[in-house]
Amino acid sequence: MIFHEQNNLSARALVERFGSPLYVYDASKIRQNVRKFKEIPYENIDIYFASMCNNNPHILSLMRDMGVKVFVNSPKHLLIAYRCGFLPHDIVFTSSNLSDSDFDYVIRDNVILNVDSLGQLGKYGIRNPSSRVGLRINPINLLISDKTKNVFVGPGCRLGILETEIDEAFRIASRYELSLNGIHVYLGTNLMDLDFFKRGAEEVLRIARRFPELGYVDFGGGFGVRSHFQETGFDMVGYGLMISEKMRGFSETMGRDVKLILEPGRAAIANAGYFLTTVIDVKDRPEKIYIGTDASVDIFPRPLFYEDAFHEIAVYGKNAQKPCNKLADVCGNTTYSRDFIGRDRFLPEVAEGDVLIVHNAGGYCYSAITDFLGRLRPAEVLIDRGRAILINEKETPEPLDGLLSLMHVRI
Ligand SMILES: Cc1ncc(COP(=O)(O)O)c(C=O)c1O
Repeated sequence: MIFHEQNNLSARALVERFGSPLYVYDASKIRQNVRKFKEIPYENIDIYFASMCNNNPHILSLMRDMGVKVFVNSPKHLLIAYRCGFLPHDIVFTSSNLSDSDFDYVIRDNVILNVDSLGQLGKYGIRNPSSRVGLRINPINLLISDKTKNVFVGPGCRLGILETEIDEAFRIASRYELSLNGIHVYLGTNLMDLDFFKRGAEEVLRIARRFPELGYVDFGGGFGVRSHFQETGFDMVGYGLMISEKMRGFSETMGRDVKLILEPGRAAIANAGYFLTTVIDVKDRPEKIYIGTDASVDIFPRPLFYEDAFHEIAVYGKNAQKPCNKLADVCGNTTYSRDFIGRDRFLPEVAEGDVLIVHNAGGYCYSAITDFLGRLRPAEVLIDRGRAILINEKETPEPLDGLLSLMHVRI
């Protein structure tokens, strides 16, 4: 845990200094997470961090300093990546339904592009003939067990090109002299089952054999992150060994050293982030305790987007071994009836002014904030080598006043 009393890095000291609520990231944990990907034994590998998971420029720059590249899915994130010093060949762009102007951004600088449909391949070919492009595929024959949640491939998935469409993809490619040099897949998110990744790799590589000019196979992200303290984490070492063996065999079959691309999001940063929020009010009811905080799900939005999202919550300075005997819901400060940061938790007895520490807040949390309920964005702080660095100021009401007058809103 990054929070300690020395150097004023306790959860309370940070909140007093930077305000509550607050996002805090641990640089050493990010480095540790990234190292696990760097230790994958396959030699020809590049790691691209998924910017949608956390697009803070300081975080992206930290990734770049570690030799990590970046995966983006929109022109805005492409521009953020440039601002952080990534070069076009350090960027993979994978998305769907690109408009003409989206294509312009991608083609202008020659970033690595994976298209998602036959129609998009044709549009790309017209705009950028005689170039290289990758295909996002949807391996619908992959058997998905009931246990595997959060899977983003299969017959019900909107994304990707099907195996039965590949002949047509080659016809389009030859019309525009395109080289289909990459295969991309994103199996799902927060997947814990190594066997599913193994079967996914086998199926994707079986399909990939059809691409004689293949330069890379991009397996996307999805590596699980331990949600509950008592859970075991994803077997990253086992994954590294498995995927290296598969890629070596594949390269041998292809007679060429094919690059392996991975695009981790959460596995690189989720457990390096903490969300701090202060208790404002406590309702002690016979059946349950409602802990009211100064945060809401629009500024801690992962529970809004992922219904199975679970984030451990600790109370600063209070012993988790001595929970009170009633379940507690940790609630937001809005009128939204589903404004819960966490539900049905056994927490120590909580009082007004206590600081709560919400875990696994590094990914799809700040980057997914919405204006839905009107709560202002918290600050973001990076703890690096014992120092707390402000990497994003908190939002304040003043610019909003200005905005309202610009819009000539009469109140
Ligand atoms: C194509 C693609 N790759 C990688 C990621 C990162 O996923 P994760 O955070 O599950 O590792 C995403 C996230 O949505 C994605 O869409």
